[in-house]
This record gives sequence, structure tokens and C-alpha cells, in this order.
Amino acid sequence: MKLASFISKTALLAVLVISGTTLIGFSDSVAATLSDDEAADLTFQREEEKLARDVYLTLYAQWGAVIFSNIAASEQKHTDTMLKMLIKYKLPDPALSEEGAFTNPSLQTKYDELVVYGRRSYMDGLYVGATIEEIDMIDIQHALDRTKRLDLRTAYQNLLEGSKNHLRAFVAALAAQGIVYEPQYISQELYDAILGS
Ligand SMILES: [Fe+2]
Repeated sequence: MKLASFISKTALLAVLVISGTTLIGFSDSVAATLSDDEAADLTFQREEEKLARDVYLTLYAQWGAVIFSNIAASEQKHTDTMLKMLIKYKLPDPALSEEGAFTNPSLQTKYDELVVYGRRSYMDGLYVGATIEEIDMIDIQHALDRTKRLDLRTAYQNLLEGSKNHLRAFVAALAAQGIVYEPQYISQELYDAILGS
């Protein structure tokens, strides 16, 4: 092998090694950084799950029905799951420690409205619960549609299954009061599939 050829082959190898290292480093940093949409969705979901928890805690204090405290405990787990993801991706936690207080102004407005409505009667409280779960399902599905990451998708899928269970529980409690709930946000087809499953 001529010296020039050896040098060029060695140089080529060095370039490959360097670019290989660079590529590994690049993919690592990509794995630790979410897109703007993914970060926004995760941040939003953290507070939206807290909203559900806080509304149900308030309605439990108002009506003393265990359906609200049981589902509030489940929402606590969901909001904890979102916090774990925020920590994993080094994103700030928007959730305030105070019950009924939110960083996101639209969630603050939503909370304030839902609590007023749910305090009118026990049945209105159950109706608010079913409404929250429907809205959660829409928002979780939106977040699912905007990420291909397996960890986020798994977390969102768990939230979605939780919301389906909660919707079933609120609809059953309304039925026990003689009220037939009709879906307001999700399709009738999806609603029937959830209630039938
Ligand atoms: Fe829920």
C-alpha cells in the first residue's frame, strides 16, 4: 500500500469515527428534547389532570359521594405520571400546589366554571364529571396524535383508559339517578364503544 493511500484510508476512517460519535451524541440530545408541540401538550396535560383532581375534590367536599374521592385519587396518579415525564424531559412543572389554582389561564377559567356548575346539585356534579372526562379524552387523543415517542404514548394511553373508566362511572351514577347521559364532545360511535366495552 502506498503511503498516500494509507493516509487517505486512515483519514476516511477517522472521519467515520468522528461522524459516528457525532451522530450518537446528536441522537442522545434529540432523545432528551421534545418538540414544541410535545412539550406544550405534556405541560398542558399535567395541569388538565390536576384540574380534574381539584374539581372532584371540591365536589367530594360538597356532596360527600365517594365517586368523587375515588376518581380524584386516580387523577392524582395521572397528574403524577405527567410530572414524571416533565422531569424526564427537563421541562418546568406548571402545576401550583394550591388546590383550584392553575398557571394556564384557560384551565383556571374552566375550573372556576365547572365548580360553580357542579355545586348546583349532586346530579350536576356527576354531569360535570362526565363532561371533564370527555374533554380529557379529546385532549389526550390530540397529544397522542402529535407524538411518536413510546414513553409519552404509553403514558397518554394510560390516561385515556383512565378517562374511559371515569366516564363509565359517572354515566352509571347518572343512570342510577334516572338520567341518560349523552356525549357532548366525543362521537356517539366512540361513546357507544366505551360504554359497551
Ligand atoms: Fe379522569
